[in-house]
Amino acid sequence: MNKKIKILIIAGARPNFMKVAPIIKQILSHSLDPTNHHTQLEYLLIHTGQHYDEKMSDIFFEDLGIPAPDINLTVGSGSHAVQTANVMMKFEPICDQEKPDWVVVVGDVNSTLACTLVCAKLGIKIAHVEAGLRSFDRGMPEEINRIVTDALADLLLTPSTDANDNLKKEGIPDSKIKLVGNVMIDSLVTNLEKVRASQILNQLGLVKKNFVYVTLHRPSNVDSREGLTIIMSELERISDDIPVVFSMHPRTRKMCEQFCITFDENKKLRIVDPLGYHDSLFLTEAARFILTDSGGIQEESTYFKTPCLTLRPNTERPVTITMGSNKLTTIDRLSADIDEVLGFCTEIGQIPPLWDGLASERIISCLIDKTI
Ligand code: UD1
Repeated sequence: MNKKIKILIIAGARPNFMKVAPIIKQILSHSLDPTNHHTQLEYLLIHTGQHYDEKMSDIFFEDLGIPAPDINLTVGSGSHAVQTANVMMKFEPICDQEKPDWVVVVGDVNSTLACTLVCAKLGIKIAHVEAGLRSFDRGMPEEINRIVTDALADLLLTPSTDANDNLKKEGIPDSKIKLVGNVMIDSLVTNLEKVRASQILNQLGLVKKNFVYVTLHRPSNVDSREGLTIIMSELERISDDIPVVFSMHPRTRKMCEQFCITFDENKKLRIVDPLGYHDSLFLTEAARFILTDSGGIQEESTYFKTPCLTLRPNTERPVTITMGSNKLTTIDRLSADIDEVLGFCTEIGQIPPLWDGLASERIISCLIDKTI
């Protein structure tokens, strides 16, 4: 029997792009393989426009070789309600028109939640990639997005066994859950050669394993004047001993300006605009250690075994701590933890199971199995 499966793939914000790239690649290679003639996969890529700056969006399409989106909802920024509602209003007519068999959402951003809500009410099947992660902290907007998305999704594709355990505890039946591994690592593995050809180290005048790579953008860190002031003065302090490069998210830059936080930016404390995919991964591999609050960088640093301090009270990615190179820190402990990590040997931890570059293959097989 010849079966056609129509899939809408949703990407909205920076951390989504490296997750959809391998899925699209897998769909395209499935279509090119003549032995797959019994199932035809057809996809449309929908960019919600949650992130829209060249450095938050376009550069990732270029670096990752993602085809241009078929549709851009251009929702832009706004409060959580406004952003979520705008995605919903603009996505619903597309679902009505396209009548997909599946909508694939990734991660935990507002676009993930918005598209899931639309599909649940229209009776369209949702597959959630990176399902089951939990920080158990509902103060994080992403945690709300994860819980609601997983409660409504029809297929929960998980990156690690802790995610399966979380979903089972929430009463989600086994039949909906499938451990597929970490799709973000598919992108990392595919791009390793290009990553290692990056010239960013030379451009910034840095030496391998003799600099700190910093990315911080979570509201819990950067939306407080006191917290952000302490972070910036701590970075100034360590830059006396080791160069620091801070790839600054637009939210963080905006908050520094709003709070009139000044810092002595010099050769050893470099504030740069958000970096592209290859440059960011190059710095992740080459850094002595990383200070971040990003979800993805906790995983990427684990893959490279680069010590990582995560400035958060919790993580939805515990495997990066139990197996990988990650450690949680707080504003109060930041100084001591930095001093400790500076004393480490450079490589720590192990790569978790199924972070093997083949997650997208497992995702597509699973979608086909669940459709036929
Ligand atoms: C979003 C995700 C977060 C993810 C982060 C990665 C949610 C709830 N949060 O947070 O999980 O870790 O993306 O970056 O979905 N802005 C720009 N240019 C852009 C996009 C945003 O200047 O292209 C500025 C705007 O001032 C905007 C602010 O950044 O108001 C926040 O953007 P938003 O998409 O609301 O959330 P992020 O903090 O980026």
